[in-house]
Amino acid sequence: MNILIVNGSPTGKNSITLCTLRYIKKHFPDHNYKVLHVGQQIRKMENDKDFWMRPLKAADLVIFSYPVYTFLVPSQLHRFVELMKESGIDFSEKYATQVSTSLHFYDITAHNFIEENLNDMGFKIIRGLSADMEDLLHEKGQKEALGFFDNVLWNIKEGFSRDLPKTIKPGKLKKCNSLAEPLKLKAGASDKSKRIVIVADFSNSSDNRLENMCVRLKSRLPYETEIVDIGKFPFTGGCLGCFNCAADGKCIYKDGFDTFLREHIQSADATVYAYTIKDHSMGYRFKMFDDRQFCNGHRTVTMGKPVGYLVDGCLDAEENLRLLMEARAQVGGNPLSGIATNQYNPDKEIDKLAATLFYDVEKGYLPPKNFYGVGGMKIFRDLIWQMQGLMREDHKFYKKHKFYDFP
Ligand SMILES: Cc1cc2nc3c(=O)[nH]c(=O)nc-3n(C[C@H](O)[C@H](O)[C@H](O)COP(=O)(O)O)c2cc1C
Repeated sequence: MNILIVNGSPTGKNSITLCTLRYIKKHFPDHNYKVLHVGQQIRKMENDKDFWMRPLKAADLVIFSYPVYTFLVPSQLHRFVELMKESGIDFSEKYATQVSTSLHFYDITAHNFIEENLNDMGFKIIRGLSADMEDLLHEKGQKEALGFFDNVLWNIKEGFSRDLPKTIKPGKLKKCNSLAEPLKLKAGASDKSKRIVIVADFSNSSDNRLENMCVRLKSRLPYETEIVDIGKFPFTGGCLGCFNCAADGKCIYKDGFDTFLREHIQSADATVYAYTIKDHSMGYRFKMFDDRQFCNGHRTVTMGKPVGYLVDGCLDAEENLRLLMEARAQVGGNPLSGIATNQYNPDKEIDKLAATLFYDVEKGYLPPKNFYGVGGMKIFRDLIWQMQGLMREDHKFYKKHKFYDFP
């Protein structure tokens, strides 16, 4: 077979995940393997489509190899998925699977995301391998990697693939009325001492649908509310996974994002994320925004501050995305004030979100964490404890906030 490995790690040839594929290749030498370093060369992929379309067309099996980054895949791979979907290539006779390495912190949402997109593209999908980043160092992990690939080959020989639900076509979305009376505080005056930030990406919104939703929410809230368009932030690029920030929180890029994040966004009393659903996620720009927050390591710096979402799109069809929004709030220790969409009655949903945000900010309401939050924090606790020499800022933060709750 012609096997194409789509390497989504920004670390390119140094990728830990790619080592698993090299190991597999060594043990299954009877195939032609080719690697595309999309994580490191995404600019090249954008500008030279022939470079990747030719090997993609020739492939019998495509393997997505990537590190799990902030609940999903690196923004660079996310962008490549976008390019693949735009390419118009017929993938219906091709098989696809995935190999990830991570600490198993929300590897499920990453794998779901890849499968949902492969399903849209018509690939025949085989269940992937989610390995721990150190698995290949141990006999058990080596055996599992080879067992995985043997199983992939067996599925192909038998003509088996996963039966995933058909992609649901989104219904017609409603436009909201952007003019609304501001919510009144009890005393009847606005409280300008508090600040809410709406972080939005308008690049996928059509007919100003998302813009109107943001304007309505802003006018309902009795606080100083700012809309920040991340589509306009001059990002130099996506997170490189270089760990330069691990010791002191300083990003290797000089585009000012780390300062902007701390001074402008994390200082707000509540945050609302506004996006148009694209490829079963918030879009690759939001992914870049999320990955770049690695400069904060695993510090839940906005703990206790409410979050909300404005979603332009058919969220009913997006189980994984709904899980993701809840899980992020849970792990961050943020009350999830609500998610307003434009599927049915956007005006009513936005007004409800505004009222709930107001309630949560005023009361400081914070329910206890559920499995998503408790389980996620246990993984981080163990990770930071083990890597305290490298992740010094995280370690200080975890000690200060008594996160080391070992039995
Ligand atoms: C920006 C960033 C985000 C990460 N997010 C996660 C995560 O959400 N879950 C997880 O288990 N590991 C996460 N990791 C750890 C990587 O998945 C892990 O180190 C991986 O094995 C790196 O693989 P690579 O060398 O192939 O890039 C993250 C690492 C970085 C740099």
